[in-house]
Amino acid sequence: MEIKIRPYKIDDTQEILAIINHNILHSTALYDYNIRSYEQQKNILKEKINKNFPVIVATLDDKVVGFGMYSEFRFREAYKFTVEHSVYVNEDLQGKGIGKLLLEELIDLAQKQKLHTMIAVIDAENQSSIEFHEKFGFKTVGIIKESGYKFDRWLHSVFMQLILE
Ligand SMILES: CC(C)(COP(=O)(O)OP(=O)(O)OC[C@H]1O[C@@H](n2cnc3c(N)ncnc32)[C@H](O)[C@@H]1OP(=O)(O)O)[C@@H](O)C(=O)NCCC(=O)NCCS
Repeated sequence: MEIKIRPYKIDDTQEILAIINHNILHSTALYDYNIRSYEQQKNILKEKINKNFPVIVATLDDKVVGFGMYSEFRFREAYKFTVEHSVYVNEDLQGKGIGKLLLEELIDLAQKQKLHTMIAVIDAENQSSIEFHEKFGFKTVGIIKESGYKFDRWLHSVFMQLILE
């Protein structure tokens, strides 16, 4: 299984959208209620790239099987060395090292962009993502209780942080 990591191209949008919409409908990984349209997703990605933030994809036999990105954590100027990232892998291909390749690349890009710290905001029910991030040295620095409400229950947001070398 040869996984390649490369920058996002506009033609990848539909495959990224399929992964995102699957997570919106079936998980608490995303706090959206409604699936996104192609145009909405394309514009979200375009905005990140226009701000010089990376969007990367993992491919298997030229099919997008995962993606990762980061962008500003908060909008005030003093936050400019801090980014919030996300990594998603096609459900059928999780646990095969694809997320690891994506997050390694994001960390590398963040270091090259001279950023100082990366933040993951993870739903407390998403234990696999919490353990995944711990493998990279991310530490839980806070939990905002009952900050989300989806599927008729309160959700808690776990903030995990990596200070870059
Ligand atoms: C979280 C996610 C990105 C991990 O990607 P993945 O391809 O499944 O993970 P990998 O196979 O690359 O695993 C990398 C490491 O994390 C660990 N890990 C991954 N899933 C895990 C799980 N369910 N439980 C414990 N550890 C886990 C692996 O053991 C592995 O460690 P190793 O290198 O020592 O073997 C993926 O499961 C996913 O897309 N989840 C749904 C969306 C999501 O929650 N995204 C995160 C939002 S920020």
